[in-house]
Amino acid sequence: MTTIAIVGAGKGLGAAVARKFGAEGFEIALISRNQERVDQLAADLQAEGLTARGYAASVRDPKALIAALDRAAQELGPIEVLEYSPLPQREFLRPVLETTVDDLAAAVEFSVYGPVTAVQQVLPGMRSLGRGSVLFVNGGSGARPNPNVGGTSIAFAGESAYAQMLHDVLAPENIRVGQLIIPGAIRPGHATHGPAVLADRLWQLHTTPGDFRVFAEPLPPA
Ligand SMILES: NC(=O)c1ccc[n+]([C@@H]2O[C@H](COP(=O)([O-])OP(=O)(O)OC[C@H]3O[C@@H](n4cnc5c(N)ncnc54)[C@H](OP(=O)(O)O)[C@@H]3O)[C@@H](O)[C@H]2O)c1
Repeated sequence: MTTIAIVGAGKGLGAAVARKFGAEGFEIALISRNQERVDQLAADLQAEGLTARGYAASVRDPKALIAALDRAAQELGPIEVLEYSPLPQREFLRPVLETTVDDLAAAVEFSVYGPVTAVQQVLPGMRSLGRGSVLFVNGGSGARPNPNVGGTSIAFAGESAYAQMLHDVLAPENIRVGQLIIPGAIRPGHATHGPAVLADRLWQLHTTPGDFRVFAEPLPPA
């Protein structure tokens, strides 16, 4: 058995991704800052017959993130899929002229240092398996800077560049790297923006070779 590590696992997209990959046979490691919440989500998934465990870590705390991923691999099995989708903090979503250096430092920790920390931790295991996927999820500002959300626009640009480079260098090693861009809000039950539909898109990114970046829906005209 191999494991999907869902970094930023809440009741919305995180839970839907857990259910999709769990149904396909993956063990599930749920990572977010609040141990009680990931424990509750793990218990819900266990009650549905899936194998899931919760690990508390902030993506802005590299030591805690490394420890959580390490424990998950030891307790559940090697991490074949890393999905990175923590929900950005409100301070990252301020207009560009109100975005401070402190906001930006936090956003870069969240969207650049966090992914690099997580990828470096799981990559040796994927190489040993001879396969793997790293899946990034971002809002529309990950594909086009939006002056209404300065922090994510700047930090997601770094995350996207990192992910695109990973895609290119890891493809020959059978490690797939992809990005799902979700313009607009996630809406339960929606045909393109429902969590279950988005989880299916991530499953396709994991299983089907193709473009680095896919969109839940096309960006509106600039
Ligand atoms: N929600 C939307 O409308 C929307 C729109 C476009 C794109 N997206 C993308 O969709 C993904 C989120 O999906 P969702 O909104 O349905 O969220 P979700 O899966 O329900 O929950 C995401 C979880 O991220 C965790 N988180 C926040 N900060 C964290 C940190 N510093 N370290 C670790 N975990 C952290 C939160 O848990 P704790 O508070 O316990 O840490 C939260 O429960 C993100 O990639 C986001 O960019 C969302």
